[in-house]
Amino acid sequence: MSSAGTKLGTQDSAVPQTKLRALLVEDNALDATLVVRALNKDGFDVAADVVQDEAAFRRMLRSHPPEIVLADYNLPTWKGMEVLKVLRSEGLDIPMILVSGALGDVTAVECIKQGATDYVLKDGLARLPEVVRRALREKHERSLRQQAERDLAKKVDELARSNADLEQFAYVASHDLQEPLRMVTAYTQLLGERYRGKLDENADKFIGYASEGAQRMQVLIQDLLAFSRVGRNEPTSKTVDCNAVMQEVVQTLATTIQESGASVSYAELPAVWADRTQVAQLFQNLIGNAIKFRGEKPPVVAVQAEAAGERWQFSVSDNGIGIASEHAENIFVVFQRLHARTEYPGNGIGLAICKKIVERYGGKIWMESQPGQGSTFKFTLPAHGPDGKQEVKADAKHDSKHGARQDSKSEVQR
Ligand SMILES: Nc1ncnc2c1ncn2[C@@H]1O[C@H](COP(=O)(O)OP(=O)(O)OP(=O)(O)O)[C@@H](O)[C@H]1O
Ligand SMILES: [Mg+2]
Repeated sequence: MSSAGTKLGTQDSAVPQTKLRALLVEDNALDATLVVRALNKDGFDVAADVVQDEAAFRRMLRSHPPEIVLADYNLPTWKGMEVLKVLRSEGLDIPMILVSGALGDVTAVECIKQGATDYVLKDGLARLPEVVRRALREKHERSLRQQAERDLAKKVDELARSNADLEQFAYVASHDLQEPLRMVTAYTQLLGERYRGKLDENADKFIGYASEGAQRMQVLIQDLLAFSRVGRNEPTSKTVDCNAVMQEVVQTLATTIQESGASVSYAELPAVWADRTQVAQLFQNLIGNAIKFRGEKPPVVAVQAEAAGERWQFSVSDNGIGIASEHAENIFVVFQRLHARTEYPGNGIGLAICKKIVERYGGKIWMESQPGQGSTFKFTLPAHGPDGKQEVKADAKHDSKHGARQDSKSEVQR
């Protein structure tokens, strides 16, 4: 048998059905024939090339890529296990089965550990067809899985790109719309001031509508800009003491808290790994909502945290009007609101910002509510950075209660 390779075709076939291109690494022509015959007997229509050294093996891999490699363990000038190195170096995932005269159990296990799919002894060739079938099946499943993983990675990539495009679009659109809108607002105001009472009654009304519309659009654009800014820069994460953040938020909302007679309590909050400004935005939007969507009774808002693996799970609960469960998802969508602005002011951007912030840190945000009883917003934030940096210190107890009687009209800042 020449090192350039020998061809063996189907001989002595029973009822060959499955076509199989095999590459045999074998120095004994009779053994090669017996291998092919064993496969024929069990329904394989085999086209086999036989080689016995590395150079011929490499050549054959390129000229006639096989579906399976059947290699003898010991060859005069080469070793069957070297086949695996060649397959790897060529970047090929082809199952390799050792077909050997004698192979101790320990050696066999070692060969499988190194990457051989299986082994068959030459005096037990009746097993070979089943072993080959299994190897081909596993290879097929592996290919399907790899294809599915490649498809998924491609989709994730496309999604990330289209998200980035959308983000850029929202930013540019909202940023660039501000300037012409400023002109519209300024001139409609000017029209109103100069010509009020000088034209007819309808003209005053129309100028009023135009002016209101322009102002409203300005607020919406500013909200959209605030939303798109959340994802624009890399977060400057560090350890953030949530007690200190809450203190600030309560300070910022002092008027709203006072006017509504709200009680806001928080105790022993942990530190998280995030951007401080964004953590403050998160708390402020949620506490602002908890106060704004109040019922008859003065608002009672409680902020708590509990450990959830590598994260902290926070909850902001209120005794307000509550939310029906069918709105659990859409309240987090930009500009989605459940009430008219005359009933409760706002644009529907706060929760969309909260969701974007939490998801930036790989967390989740969701809502649990009993309509008429109150709502609880829950979210998770990382307890520490990627390298485990953390000072999980809950500062001295910050238990804060604020309350005073009055009705609230104030809006929450972002
Ligand atoms: N604590 C809450 N209790 C009851 N309903 C709530 C609560 N928080 C949010 N919602 C509902 O979810 C909607 C979306 O909330 P979101 O904060 O996004 O908007 P908003 O408060 O209406 O306006 P903005 O935040 O722009 O001022 C609200 O309009 C309200 O219907
Ligand atoms: Mg809000």
